[in-house]
Amino acid sequence: MALITGAAGVIGVATARLMAERGAKIAAVDRPGADLGPLREAVPRDLVLIEADVTDEASTSGYVARTQAAFGGRIDIFFNNAGIEGPVRPIPDYSLADFRRVMAVNVEGVFLGLKYVLPVMIAQRAGSVINSSSAAGVSGSPGTSGYNASKHAVLGLTRVAALEVGDKGVRVNCINPGPIRSRMMTSLDDARGSGEAQGALRIPARRYGQPEEVAAMVAFLASDEAGFINGAYHLIDGGRHATA
Ligand SMILES: NC(=O)c1ccc[n+]([C@@H]2O[C@H](COP(=O)([O-])OP(=O)(O)OC[C@H]3O[C@@H](n4cnc5c(N)ncnc54)[C@H](O)[C@@H]3O)[C@@H](O)[C@H]2O)c1
Repeated sequence: MALITGAAGVIGVATARLMAERGAKIAAVDRPGADLGPLREAVPRDLVLIEADVTDEASTSGYVARTQAAFGGRIDIFFNNAGIEGPVRPIPDYSLADFRRVMAVNVEGVFLGLKYVLPVMIAQRAGSVINSSSAAGVSGSPGTSGYNASKHAVLGLTRVAALEVGDKGVRVNCINPGPIRSRMMTSLDDARGSGEAQGALRIPARRYGQPEEVAAMVAFLASDEAGFINGAYHLIDGGRHATA
């Protein structure tokens, strides 16, 4: 079974669909008020929907407990994926409140997910965690200090967690997508006054990625085929960062 946070988002839905097609039961976490329609359509059966704020510790222990209750105590796969982009502004104009909001969801949310899911996986001596970092987690981009800092922190958390649990049958990796056709990318492009046509010029593939291309990497990292892959980051960016 797979537990997915930010499951109502574009990448969450694509991943839930792929994992369900491959036979996984899905526990889907998103914030109260999120539009769950696309998720319900993508996963017509064996879906447990959980409203929870990933920045809240009690909500996090609660979504883990509800997942265990629904699926016989096990959590085989954890896609620790909820995230927000925050505003696009140079650092002098980026408010501390916005910075803290981005760090709360993207870093504290990921940390809390690890804190409560890892003990379940350690106890069962098996499990795969995939954290959503970003290409912004291994590079800079002007205007998104909070987002880039938060996604670098996700890579740090991934590496520490992998070292802590690698001898206990549990793997922790992160994914680092470049621009993906999505609500989030449209929001960032709009704030920058650009669009895919301009953004794609910087990508060797000359296009943005599809959410399904991210889902495919998550499903691979979750599978036994990735059994020797731990503590690593995985760019899905059409070659954009091959120059790094
Ligand atoms: N879209 C891209 O181009 C892209 C690129 C790199 C990385 N990412 C990362 O992938 C992840 C998914 O992105 P997406 O494109 O699907 O974005 P999205 O906005 O469509 O989905 C994110 C989901 O997280 C949920 N969420 C936000 N705050 C939450 C909270 N406090 N508690 C619970 N749920 C919360 C939202 O409701 C939303 O459903 C994010 O972490 C994002 O930073 C996205």
